[in-house]
Amino acid sequence: MKYEKIQAPKGVSEYAPPLSAAFEWVRESLIAPAKLAGYQLMELPVFEDTALFSRGVGESTDVVSKEMYTFEDRGGRSITLRPEGTAGVMRAVIEKGLDRGQLPLKVWYSGQFFRAERPQAGRYRQFYQVGIEAIGLDDPAIDAEVIAIADQGFKSLGLRNYRLEITSLGDAKSRAAHRVDLLKYIEKVDLDEPTRARAAINPLRLFDDKRPEMKAAMQDAPLLLDYLSAESLANFNQVKKYLDLLGIKYIVNPRMVRGLDYYTGTTFEFIHEDLGAQSGIGGGGRYDGLMEILGGQSLSGIGFGLGVDRALLAAQAEGVISEDQFTSDLFIIPLGEEQKSVALTLATTLRNAGIRTEIAFGDRALKAAMKAADKSGSSYVVIIGEDEVASGVVELKRMSDGSLTSVKISELQKALAGAL
Ligand code: HAM
Repeated sequence: MKYEKIQAPKGVSEYAPPLSAAFEWVRESLIAPAKLAGYQLMELPVFEDTALFSRGVGESTDVVSKEMYTFEDRGGRSITLRPEGTAGVMRAVIEKGLDRGQLPLKVWYSGQFFRAERPQAGRYRQFYQVGIEAIGLDDPAIDAEVIAIADQGFKSLGLRNYRLEITSLGDAKSRAAHRVDLLKYIEKVDLDEPTRARAAINPLRLFDDKRPEMKAAMQDAPLLLDYLSAESLANFNQVKKYLDLLGIKYIVNPRMVRGLDYYTGTTFEFIHEDLGAQSGIGGGGRYDGLMEILGGQSLSGIGFGLGVDRALLAAQAEGVISEDQFTSDLFIIPLGEEQKSVALTLATTLRNAGIRTEIAFGDRALKAAMKAADKSGSSYVVIIGEDEVASGVVELKRMSDGSLTSVKISELQKALAGAL
């Protein structure tokens, strides 16, 4: 009987060697600045009560109306695979009473998220984000800090071809004033039923409609940025001032609409120039009403989510990943049983000193072992045979140019530390 192969579900991103090393590097680099700024880890479930997202993210969004992986569990509860991270963080903060402790509460997270989108390059049904949330502080300085942390993550990868777009959705007063005029404007636009329904929940969605006729129809629509209350405007100007101070370049895009309904005040997106249609490598903003609508206190918050898959694609597109960044420093080839023992102890010592060391196990002939060393991409290779064990000296081969240096086994650590 011959079994059929089973394939991965459509549209999931997965990372196996050798790409997984680059993926890991991107993920850790993107979140490192947040750790340096005192954000603490939050590990959350990948599935939640469906109501968390329908209420938290909003019924007018594509994410909730079309893209959720929702199912009934064995107890008849409606469960959804998390499409984003912010609502889950809020749920946990409220449930654990963290909102009653030291504020702001600053957390980071990393993991898989799920959206049933049409898969294409850079758009997956299971994808990876790292994110942060800063809860309980209403100060433009933290808005700027959050944006700066995201920017630093991208910069630390070496990315250059991206831009930061920002806008402000203002406070409730600003949005209410704008909504009146926007609804008036929309009345004159010929809308199909689903679009009208979406507009009734959140008319800002129409700015996000990609259809050419809708783009044209929204051309002269009133912009929220022109309706900011004096306080919201002062806030937004202060955020921009801080960004200027930090030397972070931005473009104000008053037509930016984030894909989630909870946003208020400062919102932002990072867009990479080389990625085609799926160019959003990260985004975020304030969500001052979210905690309250999820049953908690009325605390403000701001955060971001960065797309790890897309940041990796961007890093590849810009050529900032070097292959030997992820390979071993040293490849040890023992030629017999006794030599294997020497290799094992030597490798342990070197690894303890932080030198990435691999051993060619398996009793291969010298030629096959050298081939494996070549393939491994290691910077250096040593062969340990009977002579080497007897003399305590090995020939350290630098793979980039094939040069050989005689080094005492006992001094290998020092030699490598100097050379690497
Ligand atoms: P978002 O803009 O929906 O925001 O997602 C953040 C990032 O996740 C996007 O910029 C993109 O890079 C990546 N992403 C989203 N969907 C996909 C997909 N289908 N395939 C690959 N990558 C994707 C949020 O999720 C908010 N929770 C961010 C936030 C945190 N706002 C405040 N706090």
